[in-house]
Amino acid sequence: MKNKVSVIGGGNVGATVAQYIAEMELADVVMVDIAEGLVKGKSLDLLEAGPVRGFDSIASGSGDYAATADSDIIVITAGLARKPGMSREDLLLKNSEIIKDITAKVVKESPDSIIIMVTNPLDIMTHLALKVSGFNPKRVLGMAGVLDAARFRAFVARELGVSVKDTQALVLGGHGDSMVPLTRYCTVSGIPITELLPKEKIEAIVERTRKAGGEIVSYLKTGSAYYSPAASATEMVKAILKDTKRVMPCAVYLNGEYGLNDVYIGVPVILGAEGVEKILEVKLTEEEKTALQTSSADVKKNMEKLCL
Ligand code: NAI
Ligand code: 2OP
Repeated sequence: MKNKVSVIGGGNVGATVAQYIAEMELADVVMVDIAEGLVKGKSLDLLEAGPVRGFDSIASGSGDYAATADSDIIVITAGLARKPGMSREDLLLKNSEIIKDITAKVVKESPDSIIIMVTNPLDIMTHLALKVSGFNPKRVLGMAGVLDAARFRAFVARELGVSVKDTQALVLGGHGDSMVPLTRYCTVSGIPITELLPKEKIEAIVERTRKAGGEIVSYLKTGSAYYSPAASATEMVKAILKDTKRVMPCAVYLNGEYGLNDVYIGVPVILGAEGVEKILEVKLTEEEKTALQTSSADVKKNMEKLCL
C-alpha cells in the first residue's frame, strides 16, 4: 500500500513539500488549506506534472480534514508570516491559535501519524502540537536543524569549491539567531573545516547561517525561503517512511538530555519508522553548552508567553 502524507498549508513551503514528495514518489500527498481553491488548483497542477516528470504519486487538495484521514505523516506549514506592524509576539499568538486548531483536527483523522512541524516560531509550535496531540514525543518533531545545517554546508562548499555532498555540518539549538552551529563537527569528507578554513572565514559562515532566513526575506520582501525548507522537511519525511535511520538535527522534546528539561530544541537524532528513535547526546565544550542553554532560554521565554 502506498504511504500517505498530508501537508497542512499549501503556500510556498507546503506546495513545494508536496511537489518534492510526489516527484520522489515517497507517498500520495494531500494538501489542506483554508484557501481551498489554492490547494485544489495546485494539487491538480502537480498531478498533471506527473506524466512529464515521471511520477505516479497522487496529489489532491481540500479544505476538509476528512481528506487527511489515515495519513502516515502530517507536515504542518500553515500559518501567518510576519507583516509590517506585527510584532514577533503577535505572530506567536496568532500562529499558536492556528496550530492548536490544526493539530486537534489532524490528530482526530490520523491518530497514529507522525507530525513534522514547520510553522514558526518553530520550537514553540512543535511543543504546542505535542501538548494538543497528546502523542508520544517521538511522534512530534520540528524541522529547522536540517535547514540550518544545509545552509552552513552550502556556504562551506561554495567557499572551498567542493561538492555539497562531501560537506557535513551540525547545527543545534532553537531556530533563531541563537542557533548553535558546532564548527568542530563540520567536516569535508571527514576533514574538520578548522583544518581547511581560517577562523575568521568560519566565523563569517556561522554568522551568515544564523541570519540566512533573514537574508532571503530581505530579497523576497513579501515572503521567506521555501525551496530549502521544503527540501529539508522532505528529507525528514523520507527518513521516516523509508525507515532509513538517518542522523539529522531536528527539534525534539528534551527531558533531561543535554541538561535541558521540558523544551523543544534542535539536537541530532536517529530518524526512522517510529519517528525520533533516539536522541544522540554529543559532548559539548563549556562554550557550546552555554550557547545551547541560552538558545533554550530564548525558546522557554516565548513558551511562557503561551503559558505552556
Ligand atoms: P505562505 O504564506 O506561503 O503559506 C502559508 C499557508 O498557510 C497559506 O496558504 C495560508 O492560506 C495557510 N493557512 C493560514 N492559516 C491556515 C489555517 N488555519 N489552516 C490551514 N491553512 C492555513 O507561508 P510559507 O512561506 O509557506 O511559510 C509557512 C510557515 O513556515 C511560516 O510560519 C514560516 O515562517 C514557516 N517556515 C519555517 C521554516 C523552518 O525552518 N522551520 C522555514 C521556512 C518557513
Ligand atoms: C527561514 O529560516 C523563515 O524560518 C524561516 O528561512
